[in-house]
Amino acid sequence: MPKLHIIVGSTRPGRVGLPIGTWAAEAAAQHGGFEVELVDLADFALPVFDEPNHPRTGKYVHDHTIRWSAKVGEADAFVFVTPEYNYAPPPSLVNAIDYLHSEWLYAPVGFVSYGGVAAGTRAVQVLKQLVTTLKMVPIPEAVAIPFFAQFIEDGQFQPSPELEQAAPLMFAELLRWTTALAELRANRPAAAVPPVSAAAK
Ligand SMILES: Cc1cc2nc3c(=O)[nH]c(=O)nc-3n(C[C@H](O)[C@H](O)[C@H](O)COP(=O)(O)O)c2cc1C
Repeated sequence: MPKLHIIVGSTRPGRVGLPIGTWAAEAAAQHGGFEVELVDLADFALPVFDEPNHPRTGKYVHDHTIRWSAKVGEADAFVFVTPEYNYAPPPSLVNAIDYLHSEWLYAPVGFVSYGGVAAGTRAVQVLKQLVTTLKMVPIPEAVAIPFFAQFIEDGQFQPSPELEQAAPLMFAELLRWTTALAELRANRPAAAVPPVSAAAK
């Protein structure tokens, strides 16, 4: 069974991303097509990007990067659980993406977003542009949660029927892409050769 990581992108103390991500992981498990793991970025405590080498080289010097690389490399597909900060993804999520390269290649990615009137969708649009640079395949089926506070009760996420219905549609499409991309992802290069500067010439 393919492995799906549900990545909680906010690391802010008191974040609603954790209960929303917990619900998304439960919904993914109910779908039944994936082995599901909830991956909380806060557990990885990544500093602002501090590797001396371009991630394309795969030459990591810090333990936090090696640990993050091993975790991301395990997955066949991803769901990013993202808030919207100033119409963009939170820096914690962008930073975590930037840390790595080959670990992301050829993976499909879905989005669970939340916010006010725009339900975090502006952050998702920015993320879609970012992830295609890493040859990930963002899918349009998504769970977009508007005015999220109405769905939080006693620290738990209590979705509306519409949100509950959106989740299995996203996981079904994500599974189709996971199957289609499996060979490319399995044979992805561990590091880019030649390096960026030579390739650009
Ligand atoms: C720096 C910052 C910028 C924000 N900008 C937006 C925004 O552009 N759109 C929006 O819907 N909510 C915005 N919010 C409100 C967030 O939706 C809300 O704080 C939410 O709880 C953030 O998710 P988190 O708790 O998982 O970190 C912003 C919050 C912060 C802290």
